[in-house]
Amino acid sequence: MNILILGSGGREHALAWKLARSTKVKRVFVAPGNAGTASAGTNLNIDPEDFEGLRKAVIANNIGMVVVGPEAPLVSGVHDFFLQDEVLRDVPVIGPVKKAALLEGSKDFAKEFLTRHNIPTAAYRSFDTTNLQDAMPFLMTLEPPYVIKADGLAAGKGVVILNDINEAFAEVKSIINGKFGAAGAKVIIEQYLKGIELSVFIITDGRSYKLLPEAKDYKRIGHGDTGLNTGGMGAVSPVPFADGRFMNKVVSRIIDPTLKGLRDENIDYKGFIFFGLMNVDGDPYVIEYNARLGDPETEAIIPRIKSDLFELLEGVVIGDLDSRELVTDECPAAAVMLVSGGYPGHYEKGYEISGLDKTSGCVVFHSGTKISGGSVVTSGGRVLAVSSLGKTMQDALAISYKNAAMIEFKDIYYRNDIGFDL
Ligand code: AMP
Ligand code: GLY
Repeated sequence: MNILILGSGGREHALAWKLARSTKVKRVFVAPGNAGTASAGTNLNIDPEDFEGLRKAVIANNIGMVVVGPEAPLVSGVHDFFLQDEVLRDVPVIGPVKKAALLEGSKDFAKEFLTRHNIPTAAYRSFDTTNLQDAMPFLMTLEPPYVIKADGLAAGKGVVILNDINEAFAEVKSIINGKFGAAGAKVIIEQYLKGIELSVFIITDGRSYKLLPEAKDYKRIGHGDTGLNTGGMGAVSPVPFADGRFMNKVVSRIIDPTLKGLRDENIDYKGFIFFGLMNVDGDPYVIEYNARLGDPETEAIIPRIKSDLFELLEGVVIGDLDSRELVTDECPAAAVMLVSGGYPGHYEKGYEISGLDKTSGCVVFHSGTKISGGSVVTSGGRVLAVSSLGKTMQDALAISYKNAAMIEFKDIYYRNDIGFDL
């Protein structure tokens, strides 16, 4: 079968790399992809939200399955578009329909869903122009710091955490007044949860699910978890504190009630669910749902999946996921993200990347890269994820760092302390 993956980051390169290894997969296409996916498959220059463009490409390339990497096309209804089209309806899409993708697309929807199904999450209230006068009294019921979130998708920038109550109220007003555009028409204020975060992933056919390896993402730009938030500067898997006891709580308090809630509400969910969790003194709380895999978490968990990923995706389509096998590598994995100097603020693009041919014992997943004049050049903030498996986490990190040191481009930067806290 030919597969089309939507997206252009490290997550999509990892998916393409893994799916290309399946004996049941003939060709892998990636739209639009990057310089890395061009070697794992064939890039198609189509925006994942150009549904008509996707339609033509699916027909022209005899695509038998579409795997959606990022959230934007899901929230825009790419799966619904396929279901409503006479030709595309027979082409399965891995990724939820629009209504289900609201778990990520609307934080207000997600919080209401969590509350309806008694799933542990931070206390909250939503505000818009009609009840803005209640925001300050609500803030006064909370302890600082204050967590303020735009309801809709804001490219990972829609969460602001502030210590000062007046600044918090000003932030609420500024989001409602359009700081994040339409995404901020509603604002959520929530209780701050103190703990350690982790990312838990499942794949589901709507009936049963498989628990994928969990991961920890390092979001801040600076060493020691300091500075601005980024898309993710590295990831490790497994997460030592996610032991059997903790994961049993995650399953019984969070995953099972989420799937039951979706079924009870007649929401047919086929695809990945990413539970962004906080471990608060040994108890898991949901910070957010994402309707997709994480990036860079995927670059750490895909190398740990020994089974044929296509077989699992086929199980989602057929609805017999419970009879499929998921074998995980015991070896820990570490992904270190190499970024453009200046990221997550302003940075330059188009710098030539060298040393990729010198790496060994790891996989380098491309994120913001493209081919220009026969060379691989930087084309984004996050450029490459160097992923390694090791006998221990320390080994995996050492292999990734040894290889990271062989790669060069102007103004390269990476955190030298991924996994430092574990
Ligand atoms: P999100 O975009 O929802 O992932 O939020 C971005 C980051 O803000 C999360 O990864 C957490 O580090 C932090 N965060 C969000 N909500 C909370 C909360 N209720 N308590 C503490 N930290 C939070
Ligand atoms: N690494 C976090 C995310 O993909 O949203």
